[in-house]
Amino acid sequence: MSEVPIALILARGENGVIGREGGLPWHLSGDLRFFKAQTLGKPIVMGRKTFQSIGRPLPGRPNLVVSRDPAFHPEGAEVFADLEAALARASDLAAEIPEGGPRREVMIIGGGQIYALTLARAQRIYLTEVHAAPEGDTSFPALDPSQWREILREDQASPGEGQPAFSFVILERSGAAPGP
Ligand SMILES: NC(=O)c1ccc[n+]([C@@H]2O[C@H](COP(=O)([O-])OP(=O)(O)OC[C@H]3O[C@@H](n4cnc5c(N)ncnc54)[C@H](OP(=O)(O)O)[C@@H]3O)[C@@H](O)[C@H]2O)c1
Repeated sequence: MSEVPIALILARGENGVIGREGGLPWHLSGDLRFFKAQTLGKPIVMGRKTFQSIGRPLPGRPNLVVSRDPAFHPEGAEVFADLEAALARASDLAAEIPEGGPRREVMIIGGGQIYALTLARAQRIYLTEVHAAPEGDTSFPALDPSQWREILREDQASPGEGQPAFSFVILERSGAAPGP
């Protein structure tokens, strides 16, 4: 098995909220474009609920889904009952990304449960900071600033009335990974 870095990609409100009633609490097409640009060509790993909320496999990327439901086998995605097996497969797929192609990394695309299980091992976080505090039922914890170094920040104006401004941020792990 080859080992490649794990990256999380997520959009989070200022209150930590990332999801509401199985979907996103906002619709930001600029963020969807950022997500596509950062994930194309890389293996994406997600929980069953996130896969169902997207509603289809995302093209141009191997889709790996974790679910303990043995009856769940959607078209266009590989399903794993075990997160470690999914990560190992994703790592092998990322290692096959050709020279000059996208960055060789495993992209964890959510949701809350899967982020919580992988954050401690992530080397990078592609974070869209949504400048709003919407209500929601799924959240992502505050990050320890001593563990993360910002390597990019791009502020984006509100795309239209009633829609929040947001910032694209890329964070690299700077401290040692926390213990178990
Ligand atoms: N803002 C963002 O960037 C962002 C990104 C992604 C998702 N979201 C939002 O997050 C919400 C969904 O997150 P969520 O936490 O409810 O669900 P989730 O993490 O997407 O999926 C949870 C499911 O994954 C499976 N699972 C979890 N741990 C597992 C393990 N160790 N081994 C095998 N399978 C495992 C289980 O599926 P089974 O029940 O089938 O066993 C579980 O029900 C939605 O609102 C979505 O829109 C937001």
